[in-house]
Amino acid sequence: MNPSNPAHPPSTKKGRILSGMKPTGQLHLGHLEGVLRNWVRLQHDYELFACVVDWHALTSRYEETKEVRADTLEVAIDYMAAGLDPERCTLFVQSDVKEHAELHLLLSMITPQGWLDRVPTYKEHQEALSGERLSYGLYGYPVLMAADILVYKANVVPVGRDQLPHLEFARELCRRFNRLYGEVFPEPDGLLEERADVLPGLDGRKMSKSYGNTIAIADGPDVIRQKVMQMFTDPQKIRRNDPGRPEICPVYMWQRVFQPEKEEEVATGCRAGTLGCVADKRDLAEAVIRAMEPIHSRRNELRNNLDYVHQVLREGAERAREVAHATMQDVREAMGGIGLRL
Ligand code: TRP
Repeated sequence: MNPSNPAHPPSTKKGRILSGMKPTGQLHLGHLEGVLRNWVRLQHDYELFACVVDWHALTSRYEETKEVRADTLEVAIDYMAAGLDPERCTLFVQSDVKEHAELHLLLSMITPQGWLDRVPTYKEHQEALSGERLSYGLYGYPVLMAADILVYKANVVPVGRDQLPHLEFARELCRRFNRLYGEVFPEPDGLLEERADVLPGLDGRKMSKSYGNTIAIADGPDVIRQKVMQMFTDPQKIRRNDPGRPEICPVYMWQRVFQPEKEEEVATGCRAGTLGCVADKRDLAEAVIRAMEPIHSRRNELRNNLDYVHQVLREGAERAREVAHATMQDVREAMGGIGLRL
């Protein structure tokens, strides 16, 4: 960015952050507690760009474009309901900023195929998918992600543990570009989301839509009650007064997040056999409902005011485009000028 341009006052913040989530269905409480709450905190200290990466969703959902579109809006609503404030950060949809695609293409020219072959997620896809589902776009997923980050010259990228190889890939690609054409991009640092797995799924495995063990951010009180009552507990605690092992119990792990002040009481009662699983779950369900109340009321407001949500995303895209546009000018110039500029 040009600091002499009054449209871009030098930022007083610690640096710029870009992060994104794929619209692959409803976001759940694991995303809320592990990721979004963190972004909400970061928006105060950093210049935050929060993106809904809908092109990335097409790497697997190219036959469900209607659903991707619907989910894109819902994810944006979840971002805002969780507390991402359009006055403090830039909220936008990836496909609204075409510069991501241009940078992806240019970066693809300098991406050695061997680097892509070694990305662990692609290796997993190769084992799990076959034939036509193994697309060129899926292969290039990490290049697009690198473009998302570099097109904003982001300094910091909050990521879950599973995304560390992708971030490392982006850093290597950044160094390669800078070596070939000169220092255009700052090397982005990863900021590991320590709390990404604080909430296990209802069945104790990792919370994931594909396991069907989630509570969605959008789920209301009745669904929360019904799902919490189905949660797994210590299988050795069969009757109320059997002693339980809180350290292996998903209900206890949730209690620690939603009612940290009760942690001791719950653990002691469970171990002593004075607190039964049913009572424990009833108590947890009400705590989750209370914690979700402000988010649900913001969600309802936003759902009833979609014009406002659209406007936020339009303005976010405009702001994002300004930054991305300036970066692409630097990129083309560094590369010796692309095109004849007739
Ligand atoms: N690959 C990320 C995920 O699945 C999503 C993503 C795409 C992303 N582009 C990004 C995350 C840029 C951080 C920065 O979670």
